[in-house]
Amino acid sequence: MTKDEVRAGLEFFRDLGIKDIYRRQPAPAAPVETTRAEEPAPHAALVNIAPKTELPGLAPENDTLERILSDIGDCTRCRLHKGRNKLVFGSGSSEAKLVFVGEGPGADEDEQGFPFVGRAGQLLTQMIEGTAAKEGIPLKRPDVYICNVVKCRPPENRTPEADEMEICGQFLFRQLSVIRPKAICALGSTAAKALLGGRDGVTRLRGTWHKWRDTPLMVTYHPSYLLRPYNQNAKRESWDDLKKVLHFVYD
Ligand code: SF4
Ligand code: URA
Repeated sequence: MTKDEVRAGLEFFRDLGIKDIYRRQPAPAAPVETTRAEEPAPHAALVNIAPKTELPGLAPENDTLERILSDIGDCTRCRLHKGRNKLVFGSGSSEAKLVFVGEGPGADEDEQGFPFVGRAGQLLTQMIEGTAAKEGIPLKRPDVYICNVVKCRPPENRTPEADEMEICGQFLFRQLSVIRPKAICALGSTAAKALLGGRDGVTRLRGTWHKWRDTPLMVTYHPSYLLRPYNQNAKRESWDDLKKVLHFVYD
């Protein structure tokens, strides 16, 4: 393998969100010549260190949403499974031209098993359908696809941690790869971080087009943020962002 091939391989993993391929995927033991079976190989202790968490497998060919859901199964790949009532996979059309990505389920979503069904969800629905109607675009919430970075509710609605986002993010990437929307709208900085990497917040990223792999991606404020009374400017800005997205996708 040339240096360039190694670098390309590492970039591939980095694009998949896998930062630490060494720790998580320990190399198989090199064949060791042993004559006496009872004598452990000198590096056995090192080789047997189990990865701390198990990453979901790479996307299989002909992947489908059903396949992803069945691969998630009764998932215990990260600590968020402990507080979960219902796993929240996603909702909407598998043929959607537009996908919204939130952070993770809240209390209502955890109870019902569907994304964005609480107060923030009502605002999101209103924003999608209200903006579409005003702009003369015949679009209802079920026409788009909505999901989250993590599928299980973080305790006390805390922000998902880096390793949780990395592990569960693989399922999000598969969902996006199956749906292949014309555009993605990342709601809030957790979704932006999961899809774009980097540390920039919404204020910096919003309003202009970015890319997740080859798909145009718009970042805007999370609807929970807009529910706070002092963020009226942000509300106007996120309507602007949404208008841009809807015209790009549906004109
Ligand atoms: Fe599995 Fe994702 Fe739930 Fe973690 S958050 S347990 S990775 S489904
Ligand atoms: N907030 C999110 O980020 N996702 C939901 O599904 C609900 C609230």
